[in-house]
Amino acid sequence: MITRRSVLGGSLAAAGLPLLVPGSLARARARAAEAPSPVGRAEPFTVPMPVPSVLSPVSSTGGVDYYEVGIRKATAEILPGIATDVLTYDGQFPGPVIRAFSGRRLVVRHHNDLDMPVAVHLHGGSVTRDSDGNPMDVFDPGTSRTYTYENRQPHASLWYHDHAHHMESEHVYRGLSGAYLLTDSLEQGLPLPKGRYDVPITIRDARFDDQGQLVYAMSDRNRTTILANGKVAPYFEVAARKYRFRLLNGSNLRIFSLRLSDGTPLTQIASDGGLLERPVTVPVLRLSPGERADVVIDFSAFPVGTRLVLRNSGPGRPDLVGTVLRFDVVRTADDPSSVPAVLRSLPAANELPTTAVTREIVLNMDEDGRPDPRGFVNGQLFDPERIDTTATFGTSEIWNVTNANRRTLHNFHLHLVQFRVLERDGVPAGPTEAGLKDTVRVAPGETVKLHVTFDSYRGDYVYHCHMLDHSAMGMMATLRVR
Ligand code: C2O
Ligand code: CU
Ligand code: CU
Repeated sequence: MITRRSVLGGSLAAAGLPLLVPGSLARARARAAEAPSPVGRAEPFTVPMPVPSVLSPVSSTGGVDYYEVGIRKATAEILPGIATDVLTYDGQFPGPVIRAFSGRRLVVRHHNDLDMPVAVHLHGGSVTRDSDGNPMDVFDPGTSRTYTYENRQPHASLWYHDHAHHMESEHVYRGLSGAYLLTDSLEQGLPLPKGRYDVPITIRDARFDDQGQLVYAMSDRNRTTILANGKVAPYFEVAARKYRFRLLNGSNLRIFSLRLSDGTPLTQIASDGGLLERPVTVPVLRLSPGERADVVIDFSAFPVGTRLVLRNSGPGRPDLVGTVLRFDVVRTADDPSSVPAVLRSLPAANELPTTAVTREIVLNMDEDGRPDPRGFVNGQLFDPERIDTTATFGTSEIWNVTNANRRTLHNFHLHLVQFRVLERDGVPAGPTEAGLKDTVRVAPGETVKLHVTFDSYRGDYVYHCHMLDHSAMGMMATLRVR
């Protein structure tokens, strides 16, 4: 079997040495000479935060939108004055935004211009097996692959990212990630901020070598440069009105605890699978890798000239990882938007379909300090040849997911479906997790109880820890819906 090591020289990475793509070293040296600023310690708030552009369809016929994306190497100016080698969808870091409408088919043809296989997964999407981007369902360099998204699900802030087996962790880290914003008439009918006041933000960490190139190593604790839409501590100019921010934690391992510097709470309106039933006011928003949360911030409460920093109080040294971006209130504006007290209706926990099966899913990994830790689901390493769980189409199940580790945090992501989080250690889940979810935090020793319904497609789909270094270590398994 081809492993990460044989493909990318993981032994270098494991030794903590910079892993550079061939030919980049000389270029990086040349760049470094021009850019003497200390790498990864750029002055904060010197560059604007870009908003990823929205991809345009190449054609729209018969009620179907057709898109084309090139997967290729490019450089991005992540650190001021330095061209960093990245892997991209269409040359953008992060990738372009794809906007979709529920019930309307969307077809994306990806061309692989890299020198290694890729698979494109629509995270949170209800998709057929052929278009899921299963880890083993890769396409080779020089070839194309067409993914069809029927969008038979309600609005949600989804994302697309690489899922090539043993490579997804490094591929996503190097840039293969983009937002897929699915809307529907329910969401469009609400008076929430829209258009330029609806802004996707991917927050993630990274580590750079002293030439400003990305360093990838498994389980790296030195990814201490925080990026917002691909920039280090950018500023974002806003009008004094409400904005909707669609936050995605695009890190491999890092948990964010986000808060505004002046203590103003955030209004969370949506989670992974779309709007919550009701907005929730949260002083701190926790996001584990792969999770999304949409928040509304009302800047009309602040005079023009106010600067608010979005801070991270999650794990790590605050002087390194504590600053995400700064909102600069620069002008007044009319604001016809509002946040309704009721956003949608979802069945209450006791109104969900009855379940016939209860499963126990146990996540754990080696915690004994060995150099090459392995990850397990129910005691087994991922084996793509093995079906770990078989569910019956049209039924609902309870999944109790336990983190059996003593120190290591995990989370749990299931392809194909949005689930409901019923309980954490027997206590009903809080309001921020009361909506539809596809990725859920599981603390050491904790058990989360999920309600899952398999009513969309049949086939084989994976579930895994979305701390992608962990899934690359084996913490992944296969579900068959039949
Ligand atoms: Cu976000 Cu299996 O993936
Ligand atoms: Cu997924
Ligand atoms: Cu994990």
